[in-house]
Amino acid sequence: MESLVNKPLAHKIALITGASRGIGAAIAKRLAADGAELILHYGSGKAETEALAASLRDAGCKVHLIQADLAEADGGQRLVARLADLQLPRVDILVNNAGVAPFAGLQETSEEQFEQIVNVNMRSLFFITQGVVPLMPAGGRIVNLGSLVTRTSFPGIPVYSASKGFVDVLTLHLAAELGPRGINVNAVAPGAIDTRMSAWMHGPGGPETLKQIQALEGIGKPEHVAGVVAFLVGPDAAWTTGQVVDASGGSKL
Ligand SMILES: NC(=O)c1ccc[n+]([C@@H]2O[C@H](COP(=O)([O-])OP(=O)(O)OC[C@H]3O[C@@H](n4cnc5c(N)ncnc54)[C@H](OP(=O)(O)O)[C@@H]3O)[C@@H](O)[C@H]2O)c1
Repeated sequence: MESLVNKPLAHKIALITGASRGIGAAIAKRLAADGAELILHYGSGKAETEALAASLRDAGCKVHLIQADLAEADGGQRLVARLADLQLPRVDILVNNAGVAPFAGLQETSEEQFEQIVNVNMRSLFFITQGVVPLMPAGGRIVNLGSLVTRTSFPGIPVYSASKGFVDVLTLHLAAELGPRGINVNAVAPGAIDTRMSAWMHGPGGPETLKQIQALEGIGKPEHVAGVVAFLVGPDAAWTTGQVVDASGGSKL
């Protein structure tokens, strides 16, 4: 087993929601490399999450898994109940990463889609945070996954974009509420990142769109976002709270 000496997150326990793939999986790998013990949450991606956990354990990381469908109205509370079953002494780091982004404009959005976005991106995030904070000691960190779409508009995702507005505003207010307890709350706002959620970037017109909107050339990778999360949960961000940190390659500057 690799030594934890000099690792920035040694002896920290981190819960990451939506860790089965994409940005959540990249965050898991990065926080494991930084020495954290991990609780990986998944919804339907059991096999992917188990494979990720196995590779992290091979590298010496302690990993726990919890399943909860966050599209259910009480999904967040179920996750918290399953977390309690693990009987861990505390949770030092919470990364609220799970999210959905169905493409549907104003007239196309069904009630089911609206409810799914609200439940996964807003309701669960809130109740997971409510349930985890009592387990968090001073020095705790919360990072929420926001999005570039709160700063500039993109067609076809009005409800998703508004849900990320909720994330930004909640981040600000929880930072104020939890600061006296020594808990920092920040958000990361990725632009287009190469995951299943942004598969459009490989479709017709995708590469051209990226070229037009980004100041930096190339494709945003989950690891770019994971690096910002690692900073926000690590010792260098001790004096940073209530912020939304961009990770968009300078999109629409
Ligand atoms: N990719 C981008 O371009 C981009 C840009 C800005 C912001 N973001 C944000 O970054 C975060 C991660 O996105 P991503 O790109 O990594 O997306 P992704 O590849 O589609 O992964 C989404 C994750 O959320 C989980 N999830 C979705 N619905 C769930 C449900 N009902 N119950 C439990 N878990 C659920 C999935 O878990 P299961 O597979 O196990 O169900 C999966 O691990 C999201 O909050 C997203 O809004 C992404």
